[in-house]
Amino acid sequence: MSARQVTAFAPGTVANLGPGFDVLGLAIEGPGDTVVARRAPGGLRIAAITGEGGALSTDVDANTAGVAARQTLRRLGIDPASAGVELEVHKGMPIGSGLGSSAASAAAAAYAVNLLCGGPLRREDLIGPCVEAEAVVSGRHADNVAAALLGGLVLVRSVDPLDVVRLPTPSGLRLVVVTPDFELPTRRARAALPAQVSLKAMVTHAAQLATVVAACYADDPALLTRGLRDPVVTPARAALIPGGEAVMRAAEAAGALGSGICGAGPSLFALCHAAGVARAVEAAMLAAFADAGLTARGCVSPLDCPGVTTR
Ligand code: HSE
Repeated sequence: MSARQVTAFAPGTVANLGPGFDVLGLAIEGPGDTVVARRAPGGLRIAAITGEGGALSTDVDANTAGVAARQTLRRLGIDPASAGVELEVHKGMPIGSGLGSSAASAAAAAYAVNLLCGGPLRREDLIGPCVEAEAVVSGRHADNVAAALLGGLVLVRSVDPLDVVRLPTPSGLRLVVVTPDFELPTRRARAALPAQVSLKAMVTHAAQLATVVAACYADDPALLTRGLRDPVVTPARAALIPGGEAVMRAAEAAGALGSGICGAGPSLFALCHAAGVARAVEAAMLAAFADAGLTARGCVSPLDCPGVTTR
């Protein structure tokens, strides 16, 4: 080992971006989790969890930071039972908010542990350990963890075997993210999805996802806007979020180019041209959530944000 202590911050992420269910993920600026990894006698343990998820378990097997750290140690050829690593997790966003809280803890832990051990693994090598962590709490998907590790916008072509592609982000856009005070566990939001979809929906979905990817390469916000609505996942989940459809309509009425659900929800996003419009859109979304009886908080992020970093 080459350091006594490493502190890493991993950003929140917006998965799916409309039609990219389980395949698109975007790092955002603002919310995120911090993990301190330090040398300590014994095996691997979580010494403390503070912040918004303070009620989470410190059991290594039940926490994504713990599982990701253990998987990273194994990838490094170190036995977790005698690793001598202690973690402290500071949650900087609500759990069950749709902003990749579990992924941020996993990414920050994997990154910190790798650096604590000399940093031989690349960011890409840490995606696998973090997917194993996600699988414990919310399902086997890599969209949030890949974006939290790599930053920017990612396309997960395959989880087994892992194949992740970085995509360019259209320039000059802002993403408004509004998080209501309402927890929607990812497992519940996944259970609401249909097990089968019609051929018509599949064709529409494929066209929409292709449109988003084409818009990113063409640097074409108008095209991106046309691709944002998906025919399957967003309608099924919007019904689980009090005021969901109304908040998205309010965003678009206030000048947003398009809107959707952040990951499994209940946070919602809106894409905007300029920072000034973004603040007005944020205010309209907060007001619409208030009309539905929910307090909420918002943030405005660029689209090309960095992934996990040391602090
Ligand atoms: N792609 C996942 C989902 C992300 O939508 O269920 C969960 O944050």
